[in-house]
Amino acid sequence: SKAVVLTEDASLPKAVRTGLSADVATPRRGQRIEVFGWVHRLRAQKGMTFLWLRDGRAQMQCVLSGKLVETYDALTLTLESTVRVVGTLTALPEGKSAPGGHELQADYWEVVGKAPGGDLAITNRITPDAGPDLLLDQRHLVLRGDVTSQVLRTRAIVLRAFRNFFDRRQMTEVTPPLMVQSQVEGGSTLFSFDYYGEPAYLTQSSQLYLETCLPALGDVYCMSESFRAERSLTRRHLSEYTHLEAEMAFINFEDLLTLLEDMVVQVIEEVLANPVAAAAIKELNPDFKAPQKPFKRMTHADAVAYLREHNITKDDGSFYTENDDIPEAPERRMTDAINEPILLTHFPAGIKAFYMRRCDIEKTLTESVDVLMPGVGEIVGGSMRMTDHDQLMAAMKANDIDPKAYGFYLDQRLYGTCEHGGFGLGIERFLAWLLNRWSVRETCLYPRFMGRCLP
Ligand code: 4AD
Repeated sequence: SKAVVLTEDASLPKAVRTGLSADVATPRRGQRIEVFGWVHRLRAQKGMTFLWLRDGRAQMQCVLSGKLVETYDALTLTLESTVRVVGTLTALPEGKSAPGGHELQADYWEVVGKAPGGDLAITNRITPDAGPDLLLDQRHLVLRGDVTSQVLRTRAIVLRAFRNFFDRRQMTEVTPPLMVQSQVEGGSTLFSFDYYGEPAYLTQSSQLYLETCLPALGDVYCMSESFRAERSLTRRHLSEYTHLEAEMAFINFEDLLTLLEDMVVQVIEEVLANPVAAAAIKELNPDFKAPQKPFKRMTHADAVAYLREHNITKDDGSFYTENDDIPEAPERRMTDAINEPILLTHFPAGIKAFYMRRCDIEKTLTESVDVLMPGVGEIVGGSMRMTDHDQLMAAMKANDIDPKAYGFYLDQRLYGTCEHGGFGLGIERFLAWLLNRWSVRETCLYPRFMGRCLP
């Protein structure tokens, strides 16, 4: 049989180029339109082929029939091929469903780029039984899936909601350097590299730089990558993550706690008001409940008592004490059981970073806070900062930190010191909580963790 060759009918009205999402397509119903996209789903039956086209924003059902399904391209069409389809957008008949409630009745179509079939077909690259490692190797293809693309779209909406929150408070966004010579959160998780013959690190936190911005810009925030050479493989640790950090001048500890509550509540409110994010949350985390102010507050000592009362012990069977850091597993057991956001405060100085302000009454404790969320545990770490130059210097010495590289930070206490504080929030953890994802590896574009730096 002779292969059918299609030609576009020049006598038809000129097609208008449009996207696939209903907001731009619906007003074009009844008109001749032209769309481009990737073949997301493909179903052929009785002289008709149904294409679900995807353009990254939305999907549209296209119907090919008659000569349009008799071409070589139609007979060999594969998933993930790119196509151009021209036709008339019509409302679906009663009882049928497709994205936007309409379908494109094609009068012409062509392949832009054909994806392979056979062994290389996308369905053989990502099989239903693919394990996590294979999925991570194929992350660039996994991104195209419904769930992953929804997560990434929601991520963008979440980032914007955080920016809007700080914007409403007239806080200025800055972009601190990521190549640094100072540590913030302890030497054991530093990534070091050779900087023109000098040792340097990938930043663990932009906090020290944010503090230096206060006298120049007032309250500030940043949203950039932080790096941690974490040697453990957990559900919530990455080597590179998106770190939202903020720093506020002339505040007290209570102000900091209130800001954290307001931020989480307002960001969630804005995200839920966005139809794209709301649909993703409804689908991926149907039981999600927006948190309400005030959050439950517990001190570190309260948490230790909670673990004791609930018989949650260390591996050797002994109880955690008020001087212990509570590791991830017991912290999560407590957070999941309480099942609401917790402001965990007043950690002992011995288990926290050098810069934290001591409590006025109990000097062994710090004005520090972690925000804990069910399902993930800690999503925020923050504190008030030491304001006194000599006290800070002593704290650095006690932590074996050479003050040489910290002149810029110490100067902050010499040239007009002030009570100030701030926090860091892990965006991937926030999303894991919001979208009920098992791991932070699912809530970033290309996860980096021990043993993985590709793709
Ligand atoms: O508690 P952390 O280490 O605090 C700081 O870095 C402070 N200097 C921030 C500040 O006060 N400006 O980290 C803050 C948050 C954690 O609560 C967590 O959400 C996230 O950063 N985080 C990580 N996320 C993914 N992978 C990792 N390895 C992370 N380490 C910290």
